[in-house]
Amino acid sequence: MTLDLSVDIAAKPAKTLPDAQTVTSVRHWTDRLFSFRVTRPASLRFRSGEFVMIGLPDDNGKPILRAYSIASPNWDEELEFYSIKVPDGPLTSRLQNIQPGDQIILRPKPVGTLVLDALLPGKRMWFLATGTGIAPFASLMRDPETYERYEQVVMMHTCRTADELAYGRELVENLRHDPLLGELYGEEFASRLLYYPTTTREETPYMGRITDNLTSGKVFADLNLPPMDAANDRAMICGSLAFNTDVKTVLEGFGLREGANSDPKEFVVEKAFVGDGI
Ligand SMILES: Cc1cc2nc3c(=O)[nH]c(=O)nc-3n(C[C@H](O)[C@H](O)[C@H](O)COP(=O)(O)OP(=O)(O)OC[C@H]3O[C@@H](n4cnc5c(N)ncnc54)[C@H](O)[C@@H]3O)c2cc1C
Ligand SMILES: NC(=O)c1ccc[n+]([C@@H]2O[C@H](COP(=O)([O-])OP(=O)(O)OC[C@H]3O[C@@H](n4cnc5c(N)ncnc54)[C@H](OP(=O)(O)O)[C@@H]3O)[C@@H](O)[C@H]2O)c1
Repeated sequence: MTLDLSVDIAAKPAKTLPDAQTVTSVRHWTDRLFSFRVTRPASLRFRSGEFVMIGLPDDNGKPILRAYSIASPNWDEELEFYSIKVPDGPLTSRLQNIQPGDQIILRPKPVGTLVLDALLPGKRMWFLATGTGIAPFASLMRDPETYERYEQVVMMHTCRTADELAYGRELVENLRHDPLLGELYGEEFASRLLYYPTTTREETPYMGRITDNLTSGKVFADLNLPPMDAANDRAMICGSLAFNTDVKTVLEGFGLREGANSDPKEFVVEKAFVGDGI
């Protein structure tokens, strides 16, 4: 699919779709998940973990815009996104058909709570995500600043089925062989990024909801870590509203408090989408 910008651009070069960016690659992971990369506006600066509004025009040329976490780190010269495909979703029913060379709209005003500055210094960072909620952590896991600030990073990602974990799994595997991080931290890097993928509706080596694996202590036992505490552990949460609420309660049970950009504490939360689910 290609947006026909030729007529409009010729008529009003500066004003028509001023925020258009070009798709450089697309990868479909399952029938309901895909990732894609687009050109990055030269002026766009963001903190890893933030989100922007992206979209496509509807049939009348009116933009359909939705919030999307930037999945690439802030040093990357392109921008990556990881997306759901909602069958009748106004945006994603169209967005899932994009191809390299197509254009999307990207409003270059990054915002969000899942940023390193919103947390107090600590020893260990926990990224807690379900589904596409891993997107902001795909950015933060690839940002060397995360490892400058924290000795260890634990990525807990839970999906219903194993195929839905593929994007995160491949990303972590590639990171473990990343030349930049390898150069900075050497062989020791592998032990600094811990990955704990689980499923809830298909048998895999590690099963269960993040909430259950935290409260039962299973994840600490499996990773040979002490239980979370406010002195050492920091966390970022990104999933459905129900997930965020339940994880928040669990973290508060460990003595962690919710922080914000303006008031850093021990954990921060952001919704992976608005609504109850598809
Ligand atoms: C801060 C923020 C960041 C976001 N980042 C991402 C991201 O990185 N990747 C992404 O795919 N979506 C993300 N979303 C959701 C995104 O904004 C859209 O809702 C999504 O692209 C679907 O758009 P749509 O127009 O097709 O359907 P919508 O009308 O927006 O949604 C239709 C239904 O699908 C459900 N739904 C929407 N998105 C998801 C999702 N990601 N996972 C499960 N169910 C969903 C909604 O609850 C709703 O019931 C984010 C939302 C917020 C608020
Ligand atoms: N059409 C399809 O093929 C298809 C496939 C999958 C999902 N869906 C729909 O898509 C929507 C989003 O699905 P999704 O899988 O991305 O998100 P989801 O339903 O929120 O589930 C994602 C993962 O989070 C877990 N989870 C959900 N609520 C939780 C909570 N309060 N605390 C801890 N863990 C929690 C789930 O475990 P549990 O499994 O234990 O709930 C699951 O492993 C849902 O409405 C779903 O019905 C459609």
